[in-house]
Amino acid sequence: MPMLRFTPPDHPPTPGEKVRVRAPGKINLALEAGPKEPSGYHELATVFLAVDLYEDLTVTLTEEPGIEIAISPASQAYGASSSTPLGDDNLVAQAARALDSNGYLDTFGLHIEITKNVPIAGGMAGGSADAAATLVACDYLWRLNSSREDLDAVARELGADVPFCLLGGLALGVGRGDQLSPILSRGHTHWALIFSDKGLSTPKVFAALDRLRAERGEDPGRPEISRELLSALNHGDVEEIAAYLNNDLQAPAVKLDRNLGGVMNFAEAMGALRAIISGSGPTIACLMDGEEDAHEFVAELLEQNVNALQASGPVPGAAIIATN
Ligand code: C5P
Repeated sequence: MPMLRFTPPDHPPTPGEKVRVRAPGKINLALEAGPKEPSGYHELATVFLAVDLYEDLTVTLTEEPGIEIAISPASQAYGASSSTPLGDDNLVAQAARALDSNGYLDTFGLHIEITKNVPIAGGMAGGSADAAATLVACDYLWRLNSSREDLDAVARELGADVPFCLLGGLALGVGRGDQLSPILSRGHTHWALIFSDKGLSTPKVFAALDRLRAERGEDPGRPEISRELLSALNHGDVEEIAAYLNNDLQAPAVKLDRNLGGVMNFAEAMGALRAIISGSGPTIACLMDGEEDAHEFVAELLEQNVNALQASGPVPGAAIIATN
């Protein structure tokens, strides 16, 4: 467990103590969705990859009870409005409350400053990364010493992607995408991420998937990840990986944002091995043939005024990077 690299101090929690936690964004190399269940969720089989685009949270214990959340002006994320305080219903505040079975929040407050680098509503789990980082931070500041299983259980209540942001790496997710098992892989994959100015709402994209399937008379079976993709990941064969990337949410995302299809075609024509929508979009993840290709490709995209960034993975999940 990465968070145990920092042992909490042996004196009781004291206002002014702070911790810095970093949590990665993700892309989905495969996202297979079953039919809508009575719960309103879709059973998923997905392959998550944590990439080196991170949310950084500085969490400080304060004297006055209450949770204060601010977005750092250093944020680079598309859609981030700097210095805007966020409401108490934010997923980050929910994460702190969900972990607080001992009533620490009645004694001390929390100041949480988020440096957002993962696009907002971009299909890369930026909000889930913030929630995962908050769990790790509160566990440290409140001296909870929670087990991985305990944190995982709280993470699941917060959202389907939160457990993966805790775990990181490369993992298969089933159920709602929250029952995880690590996948063995060789080496890193390199990506160019193309961002969109406007976000897409996850529930709307799932609803569009249901409509599309109803129109086409499709009856999806139980979702399953192709053996070919898992074997390609195992071998670290990037062309084979490119061939087996799949996202069932791609068609509905493209239907909701007509620009996306054109941008993906353009990216593949310019030299991406494959361009796919990440999660429920609208971020487009372009798989490249190595780091240098990714670097050059991003430079070309930026020249053409396309908002893009280089990324690679797998990287670890939410972890403490500094304490005061
Ligand atoms: O769990 P999370 O808050 O990320 O999900 C947001 C919404 O996305 C859900 O309320 C649901 O409408 C949709 N969703 C779904 N099937 C999933 C995950 C999410 O239908 N497996």
